[in-house]
Amino acid sequence: MKRKVTKAIFPVAGLGTRFLPATKSIPKEIMTLVDRPLIQYAIDEARAAGIKEFIFVTSRGKGALEDYFDHAHELEANLRRSGKDDLLEILRDTNMDSGAIAYIRQHKALGLGHAVWCARRLIGNEPFAVILPDDVIAAEKPCLQQMVEAYQETGGNMVAAMEVPPEKAGAYGVLDINEDMGAMVSVKGMVEKPKADEAPSNLAVIGRYILTPKVMQNLNRIKSGAGGEIQLTDAIAEEIARSNNVFGYRFRGQRFDCGSKAGFLQATVAFGLARAELHDEFIQFLIGMTASRRAAE
Ligand code: UTP
Repeated sequence: MKRKVTKAIFPVAGLGTRFLPATKSIPKEIMTLVDRPLIQYAIDEARAAGIKEFIFVTSRGKGALEDYFDHAHELEANLRRSGKDDLLEILRDTNMDSGAIAYIRQHKALGLGHAVWCARRLIGNEPFAVILPDDVIAAEKPCLQQMVEAYQETGGNMVAAMEVPPEKAGAYGVLDINEDMGAMVSVKGMVEKPKADEAPSNLAVIGRYILTPKVMQNLNRIKSGAGGEIQLTDAIAEEIARSNNVFGYRFRGQRFDCGSKAGFLQATVAFGLARAELHDEFIQFLIGMTASRRAAE
């Protein structure tokens, strides 16, 4: 049995510039898919995977995110008085046990690797997960849970991997595959945002990771990489040379890039259609909308 993964880092300190002006005053992670903020999907996924300690790496202006996980005593008392148990139940998912959640500041947006490194003292010498809340994954079994189960076999470092069309590979970290074992691949190299026709494969890394504490130590030494940012990919790639224990995991599920406007809209449609109480009305609307657009073209 490998050591259990009970800690997860949620890097949420980015500026979210692609959603300006909204992100001038709302953290991107509080934006909602249907009626739940992105961060709630990430927390639910982490809980399903057995995570017990939730570490948020935040920055200025993310106060709404911290408030979101507080008990809203007045609201709860009000709902209790009026017998709205269903709504109280919905709120229960937003509450965290005291001490289960920690907030660390990243004082400057120096990149994802730097954000993860900011949590080093809370991680100590344990394996840990990293979840990027703007990658939302619709899956029968939540993605991180799939990965934790696979990790029980492999140990080491594991990144969620997804096939992407070659022209899109430049937007991701891309895996250089050593051995393809189906759901799992062993990795002999990783390139962050490769130039066109320099991508070693079409298997891209997306925002779920299980990492060894060694990766934290690598981040101690790493200077800035692609785009002038401190890249998490570089710190993981160092582990390939050192211990050859980096794996890609082809998860089962559909990933939405909710850090981009198009991805966010697609996720809104998918999650809206997945809700039984909205499905019929929403699909009628979409069909009507598509028909009238076609007629206009
Ligand atoms: P993105 O690349 O999506 O950057 O970060 P961003 O700032 O959130 O958004 P844009 O590109 O300006 O629109 C991916 C993840 O890494 C976190 C972000 O919060 C997001 O969850 N991140 C990125 C940090 O926590 N700190 C950083 O310095 C950079």
